[in-house]
Amino acid sequence: MQDTQKTIERILKLKEERNAVILAHNYERGEIQDIADFTGDSLGLSIQATEQEADVIVFCGVHFMAESAAILSPEKTVLLPEIHAGCPMASMVTAEALRVEKKKYPDAAVVCYVNSTADVKAESDICCTSANAVEVVNSLEEDKVLFVPDKNLADYVSRFTSKKIIPWNGYCPTHNQILTTDVIKAKNEHPDAELLAHPECRRDVIDLADKVFSTTGMVEHVKNAGNEFIIATERGIIHKLQKDNPGKKFYNVSEFTVCPEMKAIDLNSLLLSLEKMQYEITVPENVSAKARIALNRMLEIKR
Ligand code: 13P
Ligand code: SF4
Repeated sequence: MQDTQKTIERILKLKEERNAVILAHNYERGEIQDIADFTGDSLGLSIQATEQEADVIVFCGVHFMAESAAILSPEKTVLLPEIHAGCPMASMVTAEALRVEKKKYPDAAVVCYVNSTADVKAESDICCTSANAVEVVNSLEEDKVLFVPDKNLADYVSRFTSKKIIPWNGYCPTHNQILTTDVIKAKNEHPDAELLAHPECRRDVIDLADKVFSTTGMVEHVKNAGNEFIIATERGIIHKLQKDNPGKKFYNVSEFTVCPEMKAIDLNSLLLSLEKMQYEITVPENVSAKARIALNRMLEIKR
């Protein structure tokens, strides 16, 4: 306990000395969310990354998030405390494979979920997050959209647009393994709870949900909603929900809703990151310049 307190104090001191800001995704460990200057969903953190005055952004999330911050704030040093924290879904599409697919659909716009590498963003017309995917797709002139890499988010968007959505075959392993059997069991156990699902879930799970939101969408919804919720997304968000709403009850939809990548950073790796200024995330300017266009097009739409 004492050691933890010392670690926290050293992090806070070094943060001052380095003129750093700590951003943390809603799925990070509770202790990381608690020490962060800002927590949020992918969209909120992308916006935060553009608005910081600090010299250093310590990004507590996964690789693509730190990469996006580096693209959006090229003048800042962006650190990812655990270099191996990656997103399996982002690895399911490469720029090379996307170039091949684009040739098959020359009249389609390419929308890429931010859960993708900088190389893939550079091959795309516009990015989206789970919070704005429908608005992004509907903002386009093209009638056809090649949507990478999440097939579940692509399917979710297809419910709210007249455009033809051509999905990629990627998915988030954490969300994709949430099954209707989990949902039905959780609903039977908590019949009065509202079921909130993330759009990375499968269609049949979405069909059983009362509401579908990005993680920050859930945070905002819960403030003015009922008292009990079943949460069908990565369980880290429950830390934030419970902290903001101590009188309300939150239940994980199943015991398997953990993304190991989002749990890779702990207080020790955060401290080491600030001590050693590791691991710096950079993106070559030729890739970054193109990826920035796709990210900025999205940010112009905002929420
Ligand atoms: P948000 O869009 O709610 O940030 O969640 C996406 C996600 O899975 C981040 O890895
Ligand atoms: Fe990737 Fe899913 Fe983990 Fe998010 S929760 S980082 S989409 S694997």
